[in-house]
Amino acid sequence: MISPNFLDGKHALVTGASSGLGWQFALTLARAGAKVSLAARSTDKLEELAREIEAFDGRALPVRMDVTDVASIQDAVSAAETELGPVNILVNNSGISALSPSESISEEDFDAVMNTNAKGAFFVAQAVGQSMIKHGQGGKMINIASVASKRVLKNNIAYCMSKAAVAHMTAALAEEWGKYKINVNGINPGYIVTGINRDYWETDHGKKLIAKLPRRRVGEPDALDGTLLLLAGPGSDFMNGSMIEVDDGLTVKGF
Ligand SMILES: NC(=O)c1ccc[n+]([C@@H]2O[C@H](COP(=O)([O-])OP(=O)(O)OC[C@H]3O[C@@H](n4cnc5c(N)ncnc54)[C@H](OP(=O)(O)O)[C@@H]3O)[C@@H](O)[C@H]2O)c1
Repeated sequence: MISPNFLDGKHALVTGASSGLGWQFALTLARAGAKVSLAARSTDKLEELAREIEAFDGRALPVRMDVTDVASIQDAVSAAETELGPVNILVNNSGISALSPSESISEEDFDAVMNTNAKGAFFVAQAVGQSMIKHGQGGKMINIASVASKRVLKNNIAYCMSKAAVAHMTAALAEEWGKYKINVNGINPGYIVTGINRDYWETDHGKKLIAKLPRRRVGEPDALDGTLLLLAGPGSDFMNGSMIEVDDGLTVKGF
């Protein structure tokens, strides 16, 4: 039986916690009893979230992290561990998108997406993985990819490529780090309303897309709570290298 505070004593680090899914992931883990390190560049937002978590007697630590800067990742992980102890759970969630036809995407946009979503996610996993290996207690890593890791989203080449990389990274790290008791799994979310897409759903194009979705709806960030808690807790001890679709049936329908 899983108790409401089944993550008591665990330290979870969530990247991209200043907004959208990351904000919700951090709240959910804190409500399950985890101490949470909140990582992103917008420290004012992280402080606001920390106050929200402290209001229900949770423990939260804002840490500035730019995932495109490996030194910044290492500094943030080190600051988080100095304050809250070794990281037991990583939610590797920071991400951006750049809509553009493939024939005209700029090098700058391409690099920004790949550096944030693919390279950034790897070096966050590396920094936390080094610590997990050193401490010998294993841990849980949850990589947030997208339905775009398997299926093509129109005019979103760099995003699709970067998310395919995150999914394959999940498999490769699971294979390499299983021997250290590190479980590396991931989630492929479908369309969830957050800062990355909120305005889009109000456009004609956005409304047309909703009409084509399997149940003609987009999700709220708490739609991922159950899967997050599964992958963060003991229920996933025998899972390693799995990517779970939480997409209201989008991947099986096709789009
Ligand atoms: N919403 C969806 O429908 C959906 C679907 C599938 C997958 N996803 C994935 O879910 C993740 C979260 O997206 P979201 O929807 O919650 O979007 P969001 O509301 O725009 O949040 C993105 C987060 O990423 C952080 N971030 C961006 N660049 C960063 C950098 N260089 N260093 C550190 N953090 C950075 C942002 O923080 P700062 O700007 O403060 O740094 C922010 O907290 C992304 O990986 C996204 O691809 C979302």
